[in-house]
Amino acid sequence: MLISKRALTSTVGIKYLVAVSGAILVTFVFFHMLGNLQIYLGPDALNTYAALIKSTGGLLWAARLGLLLALAVHVWGIASLSLRNRAARARPYRVKRPLLSTFASRHMLFTGVVLLAFATYHLMHFTVGVTHPEHFTLYDSQGRHDVYSMVVLGFREPAVALSYVAAMVLLGLHLGHGVGSAFRSAGLSGPRLRSTFEGLGRLLAVLVVAGNISIPMACLLGLLQPYNEVF
Ligand code: HEM
Repeated sequence: MLISKRALTSTVGIKYLVAVSGAILVTFVFFHMLGNLQIYLGPDALNTYAALIKSTGGLLWAARLGLLLALAVHVWGIASLSLRNRAARARPYRVKRPLLSTFASRHMLFTGVVLLAFATYHLMHFTVGVTHPEHFTLYDSQGRHDVYSMVVLGFREPAVALSYVAAMVLLGLHLGHGVGSAFRSAGLSGPRLRSTFEGLGRLLAVLVVAGNISIPMACLLGLLQPYNEVF
């Protein structure tokens, strides 16, 4: 084997695994946001895109398994690093006074846990259809799953739309800090490189958050209307 198990379970090895699995998750979130933006092209565009993804069958399941594996490695890595940190500091700080840390860096664990809860709710909402079953069984004129109306009707409910907006703000904080620290784990830590990559992380976070937040807001404000109504 090229990389030994010992190297991978060393603190540096785990940091790499967290960074690589995080990069896989960020790539998914970015392309998922681009796919979601097709809602602005109308029901036909979004429903065609959703049907195309579903028609890939085995490939879709391979991507799902890959994502699940990346998520499991990411969570395991963070959990083991936190436990190691705690074990190394036998006595806890008496007073915690953050020096060179930002709000986002101090709350990575909190934002991560909330994002896990969001992802579970999101899958229940749009992929399994258990939270709003009445929106999940709509079809367009071509007999395809009407993903467009499912999203628009879901986000017409203020509590749903605003919970997505709140989750996207936390996602932005998580990504904004996470991308910069992933590049540091990869050893790119010179002062200029560091600020370039931190800037890239922030730009990516702003794009993903702005793109995603625009969707629930557009539905809530009535700028997008469903193709099917549910009475
Ligand atoms: C406002 C933001 C978002 C919208 C409008 C949205 C929309 C959707 C829709 C409509 C689906 C179902 C697609 C279909 O059945 O064809 C879906 C699936 C999914 N979304 Fe999102 N999403 C958003 C944000 C996110 C975020 C931030 C994440 C990750 C943390 C995420 C992760 C997923 C996953 C994992 C699936 C399941 C894909 C599959 O296996 O079929 N989504 N999303």
